[in-house]
Amino acid sequence: MTVTVLSEVAAGAEDLSVWPASTQRLPHGGLAVGGVSLAEVADRFETPAYVLDEGEVRGRCRTYQDAFPAADVLYAAKAFLSRAMVRWVREEGLGLDVCSAGELELAVTAGFPPERIVLHGNAKSPRDLEAALRLGVGRIVIDGPSEIARIAAAVGPEGHQKVMVRVVPGVSAGGHDKIRTGTDDQKFGLSLTDGGAQHAISRILGQPQLELTGLHCHIGSQITEVKPYLVALRRLVGLMARIRDTHGVVLSELDMGGGHGIAYRPGEPALDLTALARRLRAELHKGCAAARLTVPRLLIEPGRAVVGPAGVAVYRVLAVKHTGEKVFVAVDGGMSDNPRPALYGVRYAPRLIGRASTAGRRTATVVGRHCEAGDVLAADVELPGDIHPGDLLAVPVAGAYQLSMASGYNLVGRPAVVAVHQGSARLLVRRETLDDFRSRDIGD
Ligand code: LLP
Repeated sequence: MTVTVLSEVAAGAEDLSVWPASTQRLPHGGLAVGGVSLAEVADRFETPAYVLDEGEVRGRCRTYQDAFPAADVLYAAKAFLSRAMVRWVREEGLGLDVCSAGELELAVTAGFPPERIVLHGNAKSPRDLEAALRLGVGRIVIDGPSEIARIAAAVGPEGHQKVMVRVVPGVSAGGHDKIRTGTDDQKFGLSLTDGGAQHAISRILGQPQLELTGLHCHIGSQITEVKPYLVALRRLVGLMARIRDTHGVVLSELDMGGGHGIAYRPGEPALDLTALARRLRAELHKGCAAARLTVPRLLIEPGRAVVGPAGVAVYRVLAVKHTGEKVFVAVDGGMSDNPRPALYGVRYAPRLIGRASTAGRRTATVVGRHCEAGDVLAADVELPGDIHPGDLLAVPVAGAYQLSMASGYNLVGRPAVVAVHQGSARLLVRRETLDDFRSRDIGD
């Protein structure tokens, strides 16, 4: 067996740069987030547990508000939603982007003002539209030609609904093929290049009960460069000028979507929000001045960058296996709580917590407990050589698109979500149990 031994520092084991800002080292290898020891969270709430640092979420909301003072910042609920999250986002003054009746109803029943919510989706169900109109959602983003008549009919001749149009600007960006949405070869939006967007816009303008407030685009996710946003913005401003020239209508809103990239491991690039804000604003003013357009209000929809770095997944090691050249460290969660490595090949940086180890470090692969060889959480990471069953592993940057994409695979059950803040921990979402599975299973 080949064992790679690295020093702690060389392996970056002490690098906490991707952890929540509140993270503190405790004696004996412990780590605290939000003033609470992660090992204590594991003891009290069991594992796997998803720990959400309330202060980090709120701080990230404020960073956005400070960077984009003249824009509407809408949190993209698909990254992670719970009632507490709804409250934090509301209290921090953000709006909300939802894409289903489920997200919408959860938000509104948790007290989120519906007029600050935007509904998206490439295939809105009758239930989605019914909930949107009943609850009085602020804007519906039209994603395809067939939605125009459907929404107009659902609103009724006496009704009124603000809508936007999702335009595909022909810009390719994003961390993985599956999350690139800015070009014509994918399912979202209306094309700028084949005239689909322009055609839909004239039809919407012909529907008196629909008020077109602006254009929307979302070019992809996990984008770490500013430039694709600038190109998309320029094209959308061009379209706004053509709409003014053709229809005499000046649109007042421009939604640039989300997609702001974050670092999952120390040293990885992240999108520079201050640069994004400054350059978007400059490009918007320049483009509008050149086209003699009134500057529209900017909207943005970050999800991952608000909640991703605020979450830490805590697992217990169940088995350690040496197979040929490899060491597999198996934990009590896996692809049912985090499908992202399997789906997008994302790399994470797990870390031993709860005890100090002086053992040399070696390369190991952290796997889940599911019945698939592809159930890998972190391939080839450096971990202490004496890692053993009962140890705790924590994975930072676990707040976005993990629990919101969690499944019931193998009936393992989705983990608990625990909020930590100013030294105290509280349960936000309880662990899924066998009773939950049984209660849904009503036939025999
Ligand atoms: N707005 C729209 C219309 C979107 O479709 C999305 C994400 C967002 C905003 C927020 O994007 P964010 O800022 O969170 O990147 N499951 C994938 C990500 C899918 C993103 C889907 N749409 C992942 O785990 O990376």
